[in-house]
Amino acid sequence: MPSVNIDGVAVEFQPGEKIIQAAGRVSNHIPRYCYHEGLSIVAQCRMCLVEVEGQKKLVTACSTPCADGMKVNTTTARVKDAVAGVQEFLLANHPLDCPICDQAGECSLQDYSFKHGEEDTRYDFFRRTYIDVDMGPSIKKNMNRCIHCTRCIRYCDEVGQIHEMIAEQRGNNTEIITIDDQPLRTAYAGGLADVCPVGSLTTKDFRFKKRVWYLKTSEGICDGCAQGCNITHSQDSGLVFRLEPRVNMEVNKWWMCDEGRYGFHHVHSPSRVMGPTEWKDGNPKSMLWGEAIASVRSFIQGAKSIAFLVCADATLEEAHALQKAYPAAEFFSYSPTVMASSEDQPLDHLLRRKDKSPNLKGLEAAGFKAYSGFDPKKYDLCFFVSAGKVRPPYGLAKLAKKAIGLGLFLKEELSGYQFILPGPSTYEKAGTFVNFKGMKQSFKPSIAPVGMSRPLEMLLSALLEAPRKVS
Ligand code: SF4
Ligand code: SF4
Ligand code: FES
Repeated sequence: MPSVNIDGVAVEFQPGEKIIQAAGRVSNHIPRYCYHEGLSIVAQCRMCLVEVEGQKKLVTACSTPCADGMKVNTTTARVKDAVAGVQEFLLANHPLDCPICDQAGECSLQDYSFKHGEEDTRYDFFRRTYIDVDMGPSIKKNMNRCIHCTRCIRYCDEVGQIHEMIAEQRGNNTEIITIDDQPLRTAYAGGLADVCPVGSLTTKDFRFKKRVWYLKTSEGICDGCAQGCNITHSQDSGLVFRLEPRVNMEVNKWWMCDEGRYGFHHVHSPSRVMGPTEWKDGNPKSMLWGEAIASVRSFIQGAKSIAFLVCADATLEEAHALQKAYPAAEFFSYSPTVMASSEDQPLDHLLRRKDKSPNLKGLEAAGFKAYSGFDPKKYDLCFFVSAGKVRPPYGLAKLAKKAIGLGLFLKEELSGYQFILPGPSTYEKAGTFVNFKGMKQSFKPSIAPVGMSRPLEMLLSALLEAPRKVS
C-alpha cells in the first residue's frame, strides 16, 4: 500500500485520500473549518495549510490528495505562522461573544484560537453586526459569528438535498441566508447546528438551556423510527438536554432527523405519570407501590386469559422478560404507523422510516403477533405496555374488561385503565433494538428512572412474587 510521511511518521493511504484524512489516523489533528467528512470539499477557509516538501507554496490538507513518498510537515514555523494568520483573519469580524454563546465549550473557533491563534487582536475597527434571525422551527442564526465556511450551504444541498441556503453578497458583506428568507424546509435542519463549527447556527431547542461543560453524555439509539440512528444523549442532574448523532457508517453516518433529535421531551413532561396510579371515578389517584402491586396481582390471579399489547419500543430484553413471566399469555406488538415491519418503507432519501417504532422487527422475531389480531374484548385482563415514546392507541383500554398500563403514560391518557404502574423511557434503561435492516443495536441508560418509575423487569418480578403477609 502506498504511504505518505506526515511529521516523520509513515502513514498508509487508500488512493484518493486527502492529507487531512491520513493525518487523522495518526492522531495528528489538522485544524479545519470548511472541511467535514460528510460533505464535499471546497478548501476555502485555508485553516488546514500544511507544507509539502518540494512544493513552493503551502497547500490545503483537506483538498490535496496523498501521493506515495510525499513528505508533509504540519508543525513548521511557516505552517504555524500561516494558520495563526488565517485565525486572526477569521476573528477580525467575530464578536467577543463566548460568555453568552451556546457554542462555547465546543467551538472550533475558540479551541483553535487557544491552540493556534494570537493572544491579542490588532483589529480596532467596528465589527459588522446583524440581528439574530429565525430560520424556521429548528434553527436560529447569529450572522455576527459566521466565518463563511459554507458547511451549512453544502449540508442543505447534499444531506437535506434541498437547495435552500446560499451566500449573499461577497467579501466583508457576505451573508448566509435561506433563499428569499424562507424558513428551512429540510427535515434535517437540526444538523446545521452540528456542522456549523461556530455558534452561528444553533438549535432553538437547546439554546440557552445549559452550558455544555456541565453535560454528561452516553451512547443511545434513537427510538423515533425503525432506522435506529446512533445518537448521544446529553444530560445533567437527571435531565436530558439534547440528542446528537453519533457516527455509524452502516446506519446513519453523521446524521439524524429533527423528529428524532427533538423527540425526547415526553421524558420530562409535567403530564408524565410519575408514580403508581389508580384511575377511579374519572380521576387519577396516587397509590403506594405495595398497594398497586397487590391490586394488579389480584387482577392477574382472577384472570383466565391475559394479553399484552406491547409498544414496539420495548427492548428485546423486556420482550423476553414478559414472555418468561407470563408464558400462557398472548403477546401483540404495536407501532403507531404500520401493522407489521413488512409495511415499513423509507420516507425520504436519507434516514426517516414509515415505521415510527424502533423495535418492531425485534418483537416480531421474539414471536409477538401483529396488532391487527388484537381484540381487547377477548381477554379477562389486558396489559398495555408503553416502553418509551410510543403509547397504545388512545381509548383502546376502554374496550378491555380490565386494563393495566405498564410503562410511560401521560395523565391525559389514563381513561380506561384501572391501574398504571410507571416504567422508564428509553433514556432510563439499557437494552437492545433491532432496526429495519435486522441489525441488533444496544444502548445504555443516560439517566436514572424518573419519579417512582421502576424497570419493567422489576415490576414483573414484583407481580410474580407470592404476596407477603403483613403481621
Ligand atoms: S453559518 Fe456556520 S456553517 Fe454556515 S457558513 Fe457560517 S460558520 Fe459556516
Ligand atoms: S431517522 Fe428515525 S431513528 Fe433516525 S433520528 Fe430520525 S426518528 Fe430517529
Ligand atoms: S479545512 Fe481545508 S481549507 Fe478549510
